[in-house]
Amino acid sequence: MVLLTGGAGYIGSHTCIELINSGYDVLIADDFSNSKPEAVRRLEEITGRKIPLVNIDVADKEAVEKLFNENEIDAVVHFAGYKAVGESVQFPLKYYRNNIDTALTILETMERHDVHNFIFSSSATVYGIPESVPLHEEMKTGCTNPYGFTKLMIEQILRDAAFANPKLSVVLLRYFNPIGAHESGRIGEDPNGIPNNLLPFITQVAVGKLPELGVFGNDYNTHDGTGVRDYIHVVDLAKGHVAAIGYAKENKGCEVFNLGTGTGYSVLDIVKAFEKVNNLKIPYTIKERRPGDIDECYADPKKAREKLHWTAEKTIEDMCRDSWNWQSHNQNGYE
Ligand code: UD1
Repeated sequence: MVLLTGGAGYIGSHTCIELINSGYDVLIADDFSNSKPEAVRRLEEITGRKIPLVNIDVADKEAVEKLFNENEIDAVVHFAGYKAVGESVQFPLKYYRNNIDTALTILETMERHDVHNFIFSSSATVYGIPESVPLHEEMKTGCTNPYGFTKLMIEQILRDAAFANPKLSVVLLRYFNPIGAHESGRIGEDPNGIPNNLLPFITQVAVGKLPELGVFGNDYNTHDGTGVRDYIHVVDLAKGHVAAIGYAKENKGCEVFNLGTGTGYSVLDIVKAFEKVNNLKIPYTIKERRPGDIDECYADPKKAREKLHWTAEKTIEDMCRDSWNWQSHNQNGYE
């Protein structure tokens, strides 16, 4: 059985479906601090399966111990964690406490229970300000905010743990920019309050909840001056986790993989693609740069292709269509 911490969240919920489709039994642990029980109900509707769910904070040692005592867990995908960059600058201790504590609690409990497969949700944010693109796994790391540092620190903790314990298999997955939603339109990204990220912002403009998009800067060193990112469909990303579990079962030690498409799109490329595929208009104005943003960030996805036998397949049109399909049918997310 695969334990998904934070399995009710955006990436966790999509991964849950792909794991079930690949024949795995799953168990979700989530405290719903940034997700909704309704997401799990919909997972059951989509998969036609009862999905075991425990409402716990995975930093709670006793609760996690009980979970491992009561279930035959053989792999953990650790999604649970705080993820808002701006908030992490404001409340760094909250971020360090929560993100590091949850990872340590899970890892220590796994060691006590002889569970050896750990898949970690890392982020391309660990590359900091890239010296060049595309980014490959051996490139220098360095962060610009506490959220990013928690990812980098947990990567280091896991690397050290795998070095010390030869039975451990750790796969670090560095996500690029996940967007899109399951094709059913029943699950998707449901951010609290005004979205920080581009796609949820665009879909909320499209649905009329926000008046217009602010494009953060048009003087970057890119083809049209707006920031370039590697957007990846969340279903492709979810499949990357299935591949990572297979890899962990076959290989000991710690390995890191980029999960991206290898193609960069600018903010205006995304706006245009979204408008075209959904036949909508997205009003926007150019604003100041957002502090901490970089010109370009996209993956070299070769290592994941060769070693995980995984490749992103969906197009930018699929991503824009599926994001809108989710938002237009769920104007207030899961509420
Ligand atoms: C952000 C985080 C990153 C995190 C990732 C998770 C920051 C600085 N970085 O990445 O650490 O891992 O989300 O999904 O927050 N944009 C606009 N207008 C908007 C929103 C975004 O123009 O209203 C632009 C940004 O300037 C950027 C691009 O859209 O060029 C993507 O932004 P976003 O979706 O926030 O992702 P990242 O900043 O790449």
